[in-house]
Formats: sequence, structure tokens, C-alpha cells
Amino acid sequence: MEVIREKADMRAWSRRMRRDGKSLALVPTMGYLHEGHLSLVREARAHADVIVVSVYVNPGQFAPSEDLSTYPSDLQGDLLKLSQSGVVQAVFCPTNLYDYDTPGPLSVSPRPHLSARSGEEQAPVSCLEKERGGGTHETWVRVERLEKGMCGASRPVFFRGVATVVTKLFHIVEPDVAVFGKKDYQQWRIISRMVRDLDFAIEIIGSEIVREADGLAMSSRNVRLSPRDRKQALSINKALSEAKVHVSKGSVSSEELKDRIIQTVADAGGRIDYVEIVEQESLEPVEKIECSVVICIAAWFGDVRLIDNIEIDVP
Ligand code: PAJ
Repeated sequence: MEVIREKADMRAWSRRMRRDGKSLALVPTMGYLHEGHLSLVREARAHADVIVVSVYVNPGQFAPSEDLSTYPSDLQGDLLKLSQSGVVQAVFCPTNLYDYDTPGPLSVSPRPHLSARSGEEQAPVSCLEKERGGGTHETWVRVERLEKGMCGASRPVFFRGVATVVTKLFHIVEPDVAVFGKKDYQQWRIISRMVRDLDFAIEIIGSEIVREADGLAMSSRNVRLSPRDRKQALSINKALSEAKVHVSKGSVSSEELKDRIIQTVADAGGRIDYVEIVEQESLEPVEKIECSVVICIAAWFGDVRLIDNIEIDVP
């Protein structure tokens, strides 16, 4: 298994594989790998000859108030897991994806009077701009409608950062296929739409959620849960599973289902960020469950924000 740190080396490696007639799958991650990530690698195997996993904690998708500095990492552990999987040919773990040959201006002087005067919406600021003064990278990919709701409403810089870094990874690795987890349902739909709208020649695969034995969706953030919060967090899966049972028994009102979910999670001690019932592809909220939907939830347990979802297929 090759461990590649430089963009140019990654691109050269991919092109060599292609010249040898091999198809490529990319599995983008932010590391601290668990079984959920490894399931994407196994899924990727079914779609391509060689698999590249990227490990990069992207400052462009974290707001300065979010958990970039406490995001867990263990590159040596990740490399061990990936090599033990026996199916990964390369790991791309750049130290910085925003280093360019031609430097941008060193700093951009803020012009707060402009936005204050016009009353325009303030441009979102991520850790990337905060750390680097904003001058080194200024091109962003936005999937305008899909990025607005749910996680996008709570984390205004998040999907802009995700779509941009995934675009960069796609250009560097040049895969035929890329695999994303349905655990991050909105992210998967946004990347799928971006690939369609911008004519990337890449097939996007959505892979099923992997859960702990007790039902908690696996997440790199779970290690930051206290034992008490970890227990309370089980209420998420419980509430979603109960909602699915209610639908199967004929319950169709979104409002009623959402209220039940909110109650279950709040009773357990969680702080709800959002619960939405949306159509699976458009992510448009529905009032009645008459088509295939996904129920998405984000909730805080202590200082850890968890997301989860459940698809409900209506024939
Ligand atoms: P990260 O949170 O590390 O997740 C990487 C991939 O693993 C995502 O596609 C995510 O949906 C998937 N994943 C995480 N937990 C999962 C689980 N329990 N079951 C199935 N799949 C799971 O998502 C990101 O990183 C970043 O936003 C990224 C796409 C890499 C861009 O920076």
C-alpha cells in the first residue's frame, strides 16, 4: 500500500494506474477510521480495480467555532487498518490541500463597512480563511438549494467546504467511482448533485450506515462522548426506528412523527438541533409521508453533535 502526501505524486500515481488499464475508486475520509469507513472501502472494491482512500481533515468545512481543533486523528492507526484491509492500494494523506504554487495575496484587508452599509448577507468564514487570511484560496463550489437546509442551516460553511474539497480530491485523484456513506445523507445527495450538474465523469455510490451493536451510528466523534452521553445518544436510533414502525402502521403526518422523535431524544437528555422528514433525492420537506422519505436528525449530547437518519421507502 502506497502512502502518498503530495498532490502531484497522487495524480501521477493515478495516471500510471489508468495507463495500466485499471479503474479507480476513491473513498474520501477525515481519518480516525472505524468500521463505517472500512465498509466504504469494501463497497468500493465491487466497483473498481484499485482503491484510493484519502485522509484529510479539511479546515474549509469547519467554522472557527466548530470542533476542528478537537477533531480526533490517528494517522498511524488509520494506515494500519487500511493496510490490514488488504484491498487498499494507496492512501492520500496530504498535510495541506490549500498550498498552491502561485501564492495568493498574503492578506486581504477586511472591509466591514461595505457589508455593514449594504446590509448584505455576510460571506461565511471557515477555519481555512481564518488561519490564512482568506487570500490563498477563494474559489468555492456551492450546491445552492440542497446545501441550505438541515446541516447546512446549522453549519453555514460546511457544505461549501465539503463540495470544494471533494472537487479538489476528484481533480487530484481522477477516480472513476467515489463512495460516500449514507450516514451523512445530505452530503451524499449534495455530492451526487454536484457531479451531475458539473459533468464530472465520476459515479457516486451511496453506502449503507454501519452501526454499533447497540444501534448507535458509528462516527469518529463518538470517542468524545462521555459514558453517560453515549448511553443517551442511543435515543436517536431508538426514535428513528420507532418512527419507521409508526409509518408501517399507517402514520403519515410528518409533524406528529417529528414530535415523537423530539420527545424521545429530549427525554433521554439530548438537545435537538433539527429533525426533518424530506423526500429522498430533492431533500424537500414533506407534510405527509406518501413518497419515499428520509428522516434526518442532528442532536447534541454534551458538547458532541451527532447526526443520523433512516430511509423509509414507500412503494
Ligand atoms: P468522514 O466523517 O471521515 O466520513 C468519511 C465517509 O465515511 C463519509 O462518506 C461518511 O458518510 C462515511 N461514514 C462515516 N460514518 C459512517 C457510518 N457509520 N456508516 C457508513 N458510512 C460512514 O464525511 C467526511 O469525512 C468529510 O466531509 C469528507 C467527505 C471526507 C470531506 O472532507
